[in-house]
Amino acid sequence: MKVTLKVWRQKSASDKGKIETYKLDNVSEHMSFLEMMDVLNEQLIGEGKVPVAFDHDCREGICGMCSMHINGEPHGPDRGVTTCQLHMRMFNDGDTIYIEPFRAKGFPVIKDLVVDRTAFDRIQHAGGFVSVPTSGNTQDANAIPIPKPDADKAFDAAACIGCGACVAACKNASAMLFVSAKVSQFSLLPQGKVEAKRRVLHMVEQMDKEGFGNCSNTGACEVECPKGISLENIARMNREYLKASLSSSE
Ligand code: SF4
Ligand code: FES
Repeated sequence: MKVTLKVWRQKSASDKGKIETYKLDNVSEHMSFLEMMDVLNEQLIGEGKVPVAFDHDCREGICGMCSMHINGEPHGPDRGVTTCQLHMRMFNDGDTIYIEPFRAKGFPVIKDLVVDRTAFDRIQHAGGFVSVPTSGNTQDANAIPIPKPDADKAFDAAACIGCGACVAACKNASAMLFVSAKVSQFSLLPQGKVEAKRRVLHMVEQMDKEGFGNCSNTGACEVECPKGISLENIARMNREYLKASLSSSE
């Protein structure tokens, strides 16, 4: 395949940035999108140019590091996959492909296609955990019966890899799908009940501090999420938030 790439190049956070055009003449349809980017970078290095900076790690759809906006969609045109799982067979010979970083106030560009997603880490630190006291009398988690529907929903929420595609897809740059997945995975389980109120209040407070927008129920986040995280989680988080806000104990 021959493809023309229109790639966002930005030297640093303070650089204005612009789209550069590159042509690749020998792309296999079996390559992953990131392998195609590797080919581009080999070509740029061979020409004595600076390679394109982009995030990646596992290349297996697990870590959530890869984060490109491809032809106007986070993670590109395929459904239920991350950029690293996207294959060139989704494109046609002769295509022009636009590649940009995820864009949101809460995700400032560091360089080229790399954005700073540490806002998500700070939201997690605010409450996305359970404390495990080790008194010697700690109950084995496996000995606590949990209804199968609750276990399934908690597992589905826990599938969120923190990639940020939901934010990039949202016209308001809302992080509600991510935060609601992190709240839901605990709120559905007995282990998460102890800190439930504090968790939702602190995580939502941190989300607002980081400059993410509000949810207006457009649903773009759910469509673009590579892990199929449901909007149902946002409704659950809103209920948890309301309960916690009305509670006098917090
Ligand atoms: S909810 Fe989906 S799109 Fe958002 S961070 Fe989690 S996995 Fe990524
Ligand atoms: S590189 Fe890990 S999910 Fe894409």
